[in-house]
Amino acid sequence: MKTKLLIGLLGVITGSTALAEARIYKPHSATTNPAVVVKLHEAMGRLESHFLDLEDGYTGGKIDTDRIQASLNRMEESRREIQGIVPDREWQIPLGSLSSQIRAVRKSADRKDAAQLRKDIDGLYDACFRCHATEAPRRY
Ligand code: HEC
Repeated sequence: MKTKLLIGLLGVITGSTALAEARIYKPHSATTNPAVVVKLHEAMGRLESHFLDLEDGYTGGKIDTDRIQASLNRMEESRREIQGIVPDREWQIPLGSLSSQIRAVRKSADRKDAAQLRKDIDGLYDACFRCHATEAPRRY
């Protein structure tokens, strides 16, 4: 459900690729630089595909621990990459919540705790959207 919503929103976002239009979020340093915006979008796209892969590791109540852990590793890599692209102080808190939520998912997947895993994956998704809501409010 949430994945569909995410994809729907992505359609809206990626449908309008003009950079001038993309730079309508909070104008703090890095994200107003067009070259940085391009890199950020690429890294976010990767983060998104790892997230979808993570969801695929938990379908129909079945938990594919290996697949989930592999997607989480890649998400953490993308997260670090994003931190390198936008090292701004303002991003430390939202990128930190992303990281702690990645760890929460890791734990519940290891324990094969299906109900908790669902909650933690939803929490991870919320960590994406909380940042989008503050950093790109007019687009999400
Ligand atoms: C620290 C803040 C932050 C976090 C956390 C974050 N994003 Fe983003 N994301 C952004 C910003 C800023 C943009 C650029 C929005 C714009 O173009 O106006 C963006 C854009 C995107 C895009 C669109 C890229 C494009 O090509 O237009 C996708 C997809 C995306 N994010 C996915 C995710 C997913 C999935 C997560 C969580 C796993 C996530 N993001 C977490 C800040 C964040």
